[in-house]
Amino acid sequence: MTLRYAHVRLLCTLLALLPASTLTNANVGASTFKEVCAVCHGPTGEGTKSGPQAAPPLKGSAFVKSATPDELKSLIKFGRTGANKKFKDIPQGMPAQALSEAEMTDIIPYIQVELQK
Ligand code: HEC
Repeated sequence: MTLRYAHVRLLCTLLALLPASTLTNANVGASTFKEVCAVCHGPTGEGTKSGPQAAPPLKGSAFVKSATPDELKSLIKFGRTGANKKFKDIPQGMPAQALSEAEMTDIIPYIQVELQK
């Protein structure tokens, strides 16, 4: 009995030592966003006004908030350029982003929920 309790305590201690980011998916979404999207969409999704990284804000975007996960997935996977472009004041389109399935799954709730806070 005591031995088993000691194991549980050891496990708890080890878990407490893990950085929180390894435990939740929202944080995978957050780190993917920072690594891949923030260069254009800004670190908190506020967008970039001009230059080669100009991009619309995702925070407060009606499209981001109301789109289905599949719509967002296909936009991220294929980008939005040429005739499909929505923001005429931004010269360049959104380039296709090569994310893994797991990164894709985690970034959707991140931009729809976490980033909107
Ligand atoms: C090289 C710059 C660049 C990068 C990197 C980039 N985007 Fe974009 N993104 C754009 C531009 C420019 C647009 C606007 C396209 C248009 O005119 O419709 C856009 C549009 C979007 C939209 C549509 C917004 C709306 O209100 O219609 C979403 C969602 C989006 N990007 C998500 C992402 C995510 C998620 C990532 C990272 C995985 C990412 N983008 C990476 C430049 C970028």
